[in-house]
Parts: sequence; structure tokens; C-alpha cells
Amino acid sequence: MISLVWSPQMELGVPAMDTAHKAFFEELAQIAAAPDDQFGAVFFMLVAKLERDFEAEEELMEQINFPALNSHREQHARILSGLHHVVPQVMNGEIAAGRRAIELLAEWFMMHLTTMDLALAVALDLGAMQGMAGADAGGNAISVRPERALVRHGL
Ligand SMILES: [Fe+2]
Repeated sequence: MISLVWSPQMELGVPAMDTAHKAFFEELAQIAAAPDDQFGAVFFMLVAKLERDFEAEEELMEQINFPALNSHREQHARILSGLHHVVPQVMNGEIAAGRRAIELLAEWFMMHLTTMDLALAVALDLGAMQGMAGADAGGNAISVRPERALVRHGL
């Protein structure tokens, strides 16, 4: 299994996304350490949180008319579909299936972070540089750091 330790190098520079990703990593570590008799409850909470995080990210994409919205949303939907498929097994006490899903989720997340989410962060940075305003799902202004964007993304 990949390391479940959050690193500042994994930050994208978009506070709303970084906060959600860091919390997600903490939850992955928590569920990996959960005993079998508590696994189900933590698993269901994680899936529910992921649904909310994906929705918030998709709202950001809609706000800036992100060109890759559909493919990014499709990735979110595919991973949620996979997790929903495992829910009945976990409910039936098949904890090993749930633990395997969590391992695959962690691997998927690293790929997703460094591809789709990075592309979104770049688009948000560029939008901020062009004066496009945005807000997260809670109505808070998106606080990106355009002065760092060029260097961070090698532009
Ligand atoms: Fe994403």
C-alpha cells in the first residue's frame, strides 16, 4: 500500500482543494488503522465525504467553465461507482473487500491528484491572474496565489 502520509509537496496551491485533500489523507490513514468491527462505519463516512468533496470540486470547475469538466467529473463518478459497488459487501461483513477498495482508492487518488486535480489548480491560478473571481461550495472566495502559479507550474 502506498504511504498515507500527507506531504506539503502534494499541495496544489488552492486552499479549498488542499484542505480537502489533506483531510482525505487523514481519513484514509484512519480507516486503514480501523479495526474490523469499526471499519464499516468509517468506510461509509469516507464515501459520503468523498461525494461532498467531488461535488465541491466540480462546482469550482463549473464556475470557471473548465474545459476538462466532463472527463474530470467522469473520473469522480467512476471511483464513486466502484466504492458504491463495495458498500453491500462491507455491509455483509466482507471487510477485506473494503480494505482492498481503500488501497485502490489511495493509489487512484495519487494519480488523480497529479493529473486531473493539478490541471484544475493550474486553470484556477490562471483564472485568478486574469481576474476571474470564484468561490468554493461554502461561498468563500477562492484564495489562489497567482504570483506563485507561474513558478509552481513551470509556466
Ligand atoms: Fe478531482
